[in-house]
Amino acid sequence: MKTIELHISVLVKKEAELTSEELRLLDEARRATYRSYAPYSHFSVGAAVELTDGTIVSGSNQENAAYPSGLCAERTAVFYANSRYPEQPIRRICIVARNTEGQFLQRPISPCGACRQVLLEAEQRAKNAIEVLLYGTDGVYIISSIKDLLPLGFDESFL
Ligand code: THU
Repeated sequence: MKTIELHISVLVKKEAELTSEELRLLDEARRATYRSYAPYSHFSVGAAVELTDGTIVSGSNQENAAYPSGLCAERTAVFYANSRYPEQPIRRICIVARNTEGQFLQRPISPCGACRQVLLEAEQRAKNAIEVLLYGTDGVYIISSIKDLLPLGFDESFL
C-alpha cells in the first residue's frame, strides 16, 4: 500500500499586484460578464482567453430554457477561440463572475468540472501550460496549469 500525495500551489495576488497583461485580461473578462445571457440563474460569468500572439477572445455564459443546453463562459470562450484561431494556442484564461445582485464575487470563482475537462484538452492541444486567473474582489488566484485544477484527469493518453 502507498499514498500518492498531490500538491498544488495557488498564487494569491491583490488586483494592484497584477501585471499589465493580467490586468488587461481581467478587464476583458469583467466586461464579458455584462454580455452574459443568464435569465434563469441571474449569475453572470465572463471568461477571457489570451492566445500566444496576444489576441484576447472572451465569452460569457449563455443559458437556455432547456437548462442543460446552456453553456458556461469558459467553454464559450475556449471553443470560440479554438474555432476562430485554431492555430493559436491558448496561453492564459481569466474567469470572473457577478452574483444575482450584480456584484463581483468576493471569493474567486471556481470553474465547473466540465470546463476543467475542456481546459485540460486545450492545454494539451497548446502543448504548454495554460495559466488560470480566478477573480474575486478579495484577491485573484493564479494557478500555473490546468492540470492543477484537474488532478488525475482523463485525457487522450487513456484512449
Ligand atoms: N457558470 C459559468 O459560466 N462558469 C462557471 O465557472 C460556473 C457556472 C454558469 C453556468 C450557469 O449559466 C450559471 O453560471 C449558474 O450556474
